[in-house]
Amino acid sequence: DRTAPRRLAVFGAGYVGLVTAACLAWLGHELVCVDSQPERVRQLRRGGLPFHEPMLGELVQEQMRAGRLRFSSSAEEAVAHGELLFIAVGTPTAADGAAELAQVMQVADAIGRHMPGPRQVVMKSTVPVGTGERVRQRIREQLALRGVSWPLGIASNPEFLREGLAVQDFLRPERVVAGSDDAGLLEALRALHAPLLSDRRPFLAMDLRSAELCKYAANVMLAARLSLMNELALLAEGLGADIEQVREGLGRDPRIGAQFLRAGCGFGGSCLPKDLRALRHSAAALGQATPMLDAIAASNERMVGLLETRVCEALGELLDGRRIAVWGLAFKPHTDDVRESPALALVRALLARGAQVQAYDPMAGPAAREALGELPGLHLAGSALEALQQADVLVLVTDWPQFAELPAEALRDRLRGTLVLDGRNALDGARLAAVGLQHRGIGRAT
Ligand code: UGA
Repeated sequence: DRTAPRRLAVFGAGYVGLVTAACLAWLGHELVCVDSQPERVRQLRRGGLPFHEPMLGELVQEQMRAGRLRFSSSAEEAVAHGELLFIAVGTPTAADGAAELAQVMQVADAIGRHMPGPRQVVMKSTVPVGTGERVRQRIREQLALRGVSWPLGIASNPEFLREGLAVQDFLRPERVVAGSDDAGLLEALRALHAPLLSDRRPFLAMDLRSAELCKYAANVMLAARLSLMNELALLAEGLGADIEQVREGLGRDPRIGAQFLRAGCGFGGSCLPKDLRALRHSAAALGQATPMLDAIAASNERMVGLLETRVCEALGELLDGRRIAVWGLAFKPHTDDVRESPALALVRALLARGAQVQAYDPMAGPAAREALGELPGLHLAGSALEALQQADVLVLVTDWPQFAELPAEALRDRLRGTLVLDGRNALDGARLAAVGLQHRGIGRAT
């Protein structure tokens, strides 16, 4: 039976690890998920999640109750349990822009120290091309120290899930990418994913390095689309065109596609900017030029600074005594994640210019407070309307749908200025204009 329950272990109870563990348990397998932070393990055992993600909390609890998923802080236990060992730990950016592999290598060492027999290792973390081979080497070194040399398969099985849609993306994948030189391991991965596959949801077996590159390629391709749209948006402004109408016209071409084409005040999050940096770093290490990738990074940096520039155009360079309302702190709606959020960059820049910032986010307030610290001049408001009180300008940075639902009069009555800078083209400019407010989007005629 292709889907007979298997004993699996996942290293890392972060976004990718937890989603992988819970979804594989849901498919009927027996999972141990291990994390090096004991506090996180305790929290998960109590039924809590370390971050917000729709459907994931319920799924984790259900699978724990069913006895298919348990959490541990013992790598030894996980290695003993799992025939397949998934590595899903963090790969943050190091000071030089490279992906930091310390956590990955710690897991590799632990696997090598504790392997009680043959094992297969699957990389879920986003890692530079060639890391799979380094991990295999590292595990073998540990085995050699123990005087053993069991068979060791290694595969790359990158994750393409989006925050906020993570469970759905795992269970309804557009494709499953798996790379390895071990045919048996590829078959095992295909069998694990079999219930999720169909003609429209294929399993793409390839070599290890190609699978590793696939992940970066996908994210920089997405980043490139956004940067190009952002540049077209600014051109549209100059030329008196409207990027939202242009987007409709573009997205109808199936070669282009309608998704991921929204211009805005820059992309952020824990993946797109980081993966772009890491790939540029890999290229630089090879001595290879990447003018396209460099341009994406430069373009996005400029877009992230755009709203600050526009506030200054309206109010002057010095913002002492000015009050600015900021709507949205998360890097995108439906998450409390503020990593590389364009909103935090804006808040910091405005505060540095002396402004009073009144910010509101439906979910990311606590995370933003933690990331920003107690900064003088920063007030985290309890509601979108409270953030507007006596503000000279409203700046929308994250397009939470509830912002667009507030009546225009409520905005006008609370603001003391009239300008609304809409970094995501989320608000209805005509409705705002009707009550005397001036709406300025990105890439739209003003
Ligand atoms: C991204 C990719 O979309 C996933 O496919 C990938 O698996 C994931 O990174 C990862 O590597 O783990 P995510 O970071 O959750 O997912 O966020 P996105 O939904 O891609 O949004 C990224 C940024 O682009 C946000 O700041 C968002 O506001 C911006 N964006 C997105 C736009 O400006 N316009 C759009 O049309 C779409």
